[in-house]
Amino acid sequence: MRTAIRYFSGTGNTAWLVDRLKEALEKRGLPVSTGLIGIDDDPRIDEGPLSLVLCFPVYALDAPPLVQRWVERIPAGEGRTAIVIRSPGDPFFNGGTTRTMRRLLERRGWRVVIERMIVMPPNVFYRASDDLAALLLAAARRRIEHLADDIKEGRTLLEDTGNTVNGSSSAFNGLLARYGHRFGHDLRATAACTRCGLCVRECPAGTITMTDDGIRFGDRCQVCLRCMARCPVRAIIPLVYRSFPVRPYDLAALDAAGPEGKRPRNWFERRYRSYLDRS
Ligand SMILES: Cc1cc2nc3c(=O)[nH]c(=O)nc-3n(C[C@H](O)[C@H](O)[C@H](O)COP(=O)(O)O)c2cc1C
Ligand code: SF4
Ligand code: SF4
Repeated sequence: MRTAIRYFSGTGNTAWLVDRLKEALEKRGLPVSTGLIGIDDDPRIDEGPLSLVLCFPVYALDAPPLVQRWVERIPAGEGRTAIVIRSPGDPFFNGGTTRTMRRLLERRGWRVVIERMIVMPPNVFYRASDDLAALLLAAARRRIEHLADDIKEGRTLLEDTGNTVNGSSSAFNGLLARYGHRFGHDLRATAACTRCGLCVRECPAGTITMTDDGIRFGDRCQVCLRCMARCPVRAIIPLVYRSFPVRPYDLAALDAAGPEGKRPRNWFERRYRSYLDRS
């Protein structure tokens, strides 16, 4: 059966994961199409027998609000299967939940059969050492291979995240959906900006414009941090919310280096051990 992977990625982690999942599924003889979700996208999905795989980073313990709105507009599933993958930067609190997304999909007539967490190297609030990042990428690869087997075999693996996580995710994600756009008002492009226009083209919300006075950030920010992560001269900084020190990794290099001899570097990183052992 054909698999349609639809995903959102702000700083590149989920995009890396999707590329690996596509490779793993194709290796197993499953044809795959991929598509990046944006704010004004027409959420059309290929017709016919098909399995939908939805991948997204975790924002405030749940799916990014823009992905939730996208799912509310997708065509009726009519009993077709859906798989929901979240990629948090931390396994703490179960890495959030996919429950909201499962509900939204089921309301649209999709049958959710797999929910899965794949932790990627954290790059917001805390940036991991290259050692932990390499260990997480190796763990992600193992999880992706298992996931591809589960999809191929048509297995059902649903999660019950529990009331504490579900309640917290509703509260925090609700706040993000309501007030997240304010983050855009806090962004500035410094004098280092070369006016290359990349951030204007890449913003998934289309909320960045180039004016005679410089780069302007509008009212539709989704707090995805893509502009900060992609700016070639690192000119974009948040004035107040400085706890968003987005420093993307060279994922290809870390992946190629492999996990051998690597270990968590401090007490904070040792918290990832049980997730790594389970992966
Ligand atoms: C606004 C925002 C909220 C986030 N909230 C969480 C969170 O609640 N839990 C978590 O583990 N990671 C959280 N993260 C980190 C991302 O889920 C993580 O870095 C992810 O791998 C980024 O994927 P991407 O590079 O595809 O955008 C948050 C990131 C952002 C930008
Ligand atoms: S990506 Fe950076 S350098 Fe290019 S226009 Fe935007 S802020 Fe300026
Ligand atoms: S302004 Fe930056 S952080 Fe906000 S949605 Fe656009 S790319 Fe993402």
